[in-house]
Amino acid sequence: MNRALAIVGCSELVTLAGRGRPRIGAELRELAIIPKGSMLIRDGRIAEVGPRVTIDRNTEVIDAGGRVVMPGFVDAHTHPVFAGNRADEFEKRAEGATYQEIAAAGGGIRSTVRKTRAATEDQLLAAADRYTDWFLRNGTTTIEAKSGYGLSLDDELKLLRTISKLGPIRTVPTFLGAHEVPDEYRGRRSEYLKLVIEEMLPRAAPIAKFCDVFCEPRVFPVEEARQVLLAARAHGLGLRMHADQLENGGGASLAAEIGAATADHLEHTDASGIAALQKAPVQPVLLPGAVYALGSRRYPDARAMIAAGLAVVLATDFNPGSSPTPSMPMILSLAATQMKMTPAESITASTINAAFSLGLGAEIGSLEPGKRADFVIHDCVDHRELAYFFGIEHAYAVYIGGVPVYAAK
Ligand code: NIG
Ligand code: FE
Repeated sequence: MNRALAIVGCSELVTLAGRGRPRIGAELRELAIIPKGSMLIRDGRIAEVGPRVTIDRNTEVIDAGGRVVMPGFVDAHTHPVFAGNRADEFEKRAEGATYQEIAAAGGGIRSTVRKTRAATEDQLLAAADRYTDWFLRNGTTTIEAKSGYGLSLDDELKLLRTISKLGPIRTVPTFLGAHEVPDEYRGRRSEYLKLVIEEMLPRAAPIAKFCDVFCEPRVFPVEEARQVLLAARAHGLGLRMHADQLENGGGASLAAEIGAATADHLEHTDASGIAALQKAPVQPVLLPGAVYALGSRRYPDARAMIAAGLAVVLATDFNPGSSPTPSMPMILSLAATQMKMTPAESITASTINAAFSLGLGAEIGSLEPGKRADFVIHDCVDHRELAYFFGIEHAYAVYIGGVPVYAAK
């Protein structure tokens, strides 16, 4: 039998225990903190949590040194597999060009698709491994990871295979063949949709857990997004959506109509969209990193969503175009300063609520007996510091399944 591991000497053991479902409304502030708490881990899972835990001579004891211990962040929206980067477009945006202008001129997602198609699987894996390290250093232990920079059958499968090779971070694969219409299908969009639905989905479904669509009036409008998502459901995939990011095109309402697990972005969602999400219910995944990096200043209305009783999630949207950050603490900072979410609400949104949005609420996202021992010792004494001090790496030690995967120097 593996030796047990005990974590002692925490300033706060932030457990997020106790609900068994995503938190809504005022519950988002419930972190279920055990002051000076301890945690016992056996065989990669949490065995005990409390003011004190059972320690015998076979137990390895780790002293957290008066630091905060929390579940690892669960990043429920990332695009981590791509070749090259778009620092050139970033510079152009600093000079005044917009994301949409750059995309219309052949840049944007299409330029990453060209580079990604030209890369080998090994090259993509090497790049994604580097980004995976960045996630770990920032205290993230699970990422939802989308394809979407291949846009041909072989290239989309290449991306999904690359995702399946990532580790030690946990990954949840999402098929995003409907991310953009690729160059060779310009003017023939219905043929591309047919390819996605009839050829890509059947091959992607066995290796993906979710299907996502970039639903925007000028990318895939709701009628097209609906076709792809209903076909994906018929193949047994869960549904996620990029919705209402650049304009309000009815994306949130479609997510509600088809019962998607999540509707992501929602910068332009109005009160009727929020009401539809609440009724369904669909979890909103808010991505303030994309608003910040695009400089648009239009953040989603997190306060209205919390007031409406939505089980809000926060994620990075890590990608080479609109949100090149793997840092969940940066997202917590943006959520506080730009969206008026409290640090406690943000921590809930990026751990337990995110886990439920991925169908993993019973396995990860909180520190409770029976769950996987995915946790982080952060170099602070108060959880609010995670959102307050920004632009630094807070993680001091990161564990996945009770195994150390990162330690700060
Ligand atoms: O979530 N909106 C679509 N996908 C990404 C952007 C991808 C890119 O620019 O490469 C997003 O913002
Ligand atoms: Fe995205």
